[in-house]
Amino acid sequence: MDVETLKKEAGVAACAYVRDGMNVGLGTGSTVKYTILELGRLVQHEGLNIVGVPTSIATRDLANEVGIPLADLDDLPGLDVVIDGTDEFDPAFQLIKGGGAALLREKVVAQASKRMVVVADERKKVDVLGAFPLPIEITPFSYGTTKRQIESVLGCKVSMRKHDGELLRTDNGNHIADAHAGPTITEPEAIEARLLSLAGVVQVGLFNNMCDVVILASSSGVAVLEKGD
Ligand code: A5P
Repeated sequence: MDVETLKKEAGVAACAYVRDGMNVGLGTGSTVKYTILELGRLVQHEGLNIVGVPTSIATRDLANEVGIPLADLDDLPGLDVVIDGTDEFDPAFQLIKGGGAALLREKVVAQASKRMVVVADERKKVDVLGAFPLPIEITPFSYGTTKRQIESVLGCKVSMRKHDGELLRTDNGNHIADAHAGPTITEPEAIEARLLSLAGVVQVGLFNNMCDVVILASSSGVAVLEKGD
């Protein structure tokens, strides 16, 4: 089965976690795109009544296109659920996110949600985090110094992410440094804390103790994995 089909299966299955009247965090990426498309269909054609909070400008635009009513997180008392993709998840449901450069807003929205549902295909399941380069959002000011500090904390190479030949700018105007740690991140909470102690680091793409459910699509079907199973 091709990856796009798996993404669609996981993305659509996650809509089962959305009920009438909910405030819903809308993640970013090519998997959760299918959740957003299906939620738009349910709102437009099945009378589903929800309010969405997007985690990126791209997701805001897609949600507007498919007719999901949106609100600012600040104007809501909180979110019932966030549905988002991931770049990797380990057996403890710790995540690496930020492949789409939306990690800061994704983390703010996830922390405001009662529940986090992650949609993924089988390539995202790992024993140890880190084969996927760890995205770290850093300030443009003296980014070279921050990059060197990250290299020294992690003991690995760090590259600055580019877009169209220029340093990438996130929705928040920052840059992304990708840390090539390899599958070595066995203590993601300690790594996150050490990186966050650097002044130029805005946010780290390690999402620790946030994910409650993974909806995992593989060639043998869609599995719902609950934390602690
Ligand atoms: C966006 O910044 C990321 O955190 C995405 O959620 C993550 O990269 C998964 O994206 P895909 O579903 O496109 O693989």
